Formats: sequence, structure tokens, C-alpha cells
Amino acid sequence: MRKVQDYYFNRAKKDNYPARSVYKLEEAQKKYRIMAAGNAVLDLGCQPGSWSLYAARTVGPRGIVVGVDLQEGQKTTIAGAADIVWLTADVMAEDTVASVQKIRKKYRVVLSDIAPRTSGNRWVDQQQSLALARRVVELAATLLERGGNLYVKVFEGEDFKEFADSVRKIFKTVKIVKPKSSRKESREVFVLAMGFGEK
Ligand SMILES: C[S@@+](CC[C@H](N)C(=O)[O-])C[C@H]1O[C@@H](n2cnc3c(N)ncnc32)[C@H](O)[C@@H]1O
Repeated sequence: MRKVQDYYFNRAKKDNYPARSVYKLEEAQKKYRIMAAGNAVLDLGCQPGSWSLYAARTVGPRGIVVGVDLQEGQKTTIAGAADIVWLTADVMAEDTVASVQKIRKKYRVVLSDIAPRTSGNRWVDQQQSLALARRVVELAATLLERGGNLYVKVFEGEDFKEFADSVRKIFKTVKIVKPKSSRKESREVFVLAMGFGEK
């Protein structure tokens, strides 16, 4: 197991990404084509920046990536890729929508790898993760254009089914994804929802 984790850690270093979590997005992108060239992408909980950097390469110079995180961190962009606007903001705050809409009114893709600060209590952590994921869905419903896609991390557990069902009501297709690069012992899964408003 540890060997597999070291593999992703080393690969991220070699590929110049600040975090191994990039492969949880790359795997899903290769299989499901969540993003396409020219897309506007909103990446929630973006620091230390791997997903935003990967998204910028994927959507290319005609696209744009907006990364939002509570913490300041990565500020770089990549030559030949999409511009990245790095915002320091709390997704739970009301005015975050206005800050994000100053850059683009609507987005094609919303990504969220947000993780709550873990307390050590499984139930509390899972409830916090769900509260954040519910907020991400609310933001996606406001900010996605019709036909847009959402890829959001959530800790599986009690109330997860109710959460997934609420996403199914507003997207055409919904899949629960557990990437190979996600630690098996972790309860994180990703909800991939495609075709916003096309139900
Ligand atoms: C697992 S990290 C994201 C890693 C990132 N996808 C990458 O590949 O580099 C989770 C991030 O969620 C952020 N976060 C947690 N709660 C947040 C909130 N309420 N608003 C914005 N960001 C939040 C944390 O600060 C942390 O940087």
C-alpha cells in the first residue's frame, strides 16, 4: 500500500505538481472528459494548486481557471496554458459568489477537492464534509452554465445517499468515482455530475 502512495508522491514531484491529489482529477478527466479546450473552470479548495494547474493545461490558452481557497498559496501560471486567477475566500461566505462572478458570470466546470479540517471524530468529519459538499452543489447550481459538469469530493457515510440523490435531481448523469490514487483506507469518494439542467 505504502509503495503505491510513494508512487503517486514521486510522480507528482516529477511532473512538477505540488500535490499527489492531481491524479484524482487526472484519472477522472482521462476517463470521463469532464473539461474540454476553452472551458471556464472554477476550482474550489484549490491550494496548494495541483488541480488548478492541471485544469489550466487541459483547457489551454482559450480557457480560464479560477481557484478559490481559504488559504493563500500557489500564485503561478503556466506558459501556454489557461490563465489562473487565485482567490483567497471561504466558499461558505455569501460574498464569494460575487467575487467569482466578477471574473466570469458562468462556468462550464466546477471542481471541488475541499476537505474540512479533520477532528479525528469520523461522524463529525463526515458531517462537515457533507456540509461543504452541499454548499459546493449550491454554488454549482448558481454558477454553472446549462450542460456544465461538477466533480466534488465528499466523505462517504451516513446521509451520503441523500446527498447523491439531491445531485441527481439537477444533473443528467451522476457517477460515484473512487480513483485508484485515492487511499483505499480513506472514505473520500468523488461525485461526478454531468449535464447540469439537462435532466
Ligand atoms: C485537499 S486540499 C486541495 C488540494 C488541491 N486540489 C490540489 O490538488 O492541490 C483541500 C483544500 O480545501 C481548502 N478548504 C477547506 N475549507 C474551505 C472553505 N470553506 N473554503 C475554501 N477552501 C476551503 C483547504 O484550505 C485546503 O487547501
